[in-house]
Amino acid sequence: MKIFSANLDNLRKLYINQLQMLLSTEQQITEALPKMIDKATDVQLKQAFQSHLQETREQVMRLEQILNASVGEATTNKCKVMAALVTETEDMVRDAADNDVRDAALISAGQRVEHYEIACYGAVRHWAEILGETKHAELLDKTLKEEGHADHLLTQISNRVNPQAEKAA
Ligand SMILES: [Fe+2]
Repeated sequence: MKIFSANLDNLRKLYINQLQMLLSTEQQITEALPKMIDKATDVQLKQAFQSHLQETREQVMRLEQILNASVGEATTNKCKVMAALVTETEDMVRDAADNDVRDAALISAGQRVEHYEIACYGAVRHWAEILGETKHAELLDKTLKEEGHADHLLTQISNRVNPQAEKAA
């Protein structure tokens, strides 16, 4: 439970608060993706997660860069949504008793993460523009495009993997 309120009485404070939250989001994804790569069977799915892990490491650095320039330090504000999504993923993966079904679950889990991130980055990018932080907006837009690309790639893979999962058992 939070004892002290963050006292977000202007848009800049909310912006910084949400960048700190996104830093926690990306750090949690950096820890979760290696496990997802390990559990995936489909080669293209493994590769998609692998390349997104590389992108996620760069996304962490972009947020650290923006936070360091803005407030002099890159601290986090724990993302509770990502913690819940990781738990949901672990449950699905543990319960999946077939490789294709597990891959279908992993794709679904990955897309939940991407959609959540797209919503969050869409907001902070707009706030950066409004606050006159053009350089930040460019960096955040780069990340937003990577999340969108990762989502589309997972849709393509699901078009092949989901019908295979339907044939399982
Ligand atoms: Fe990300």
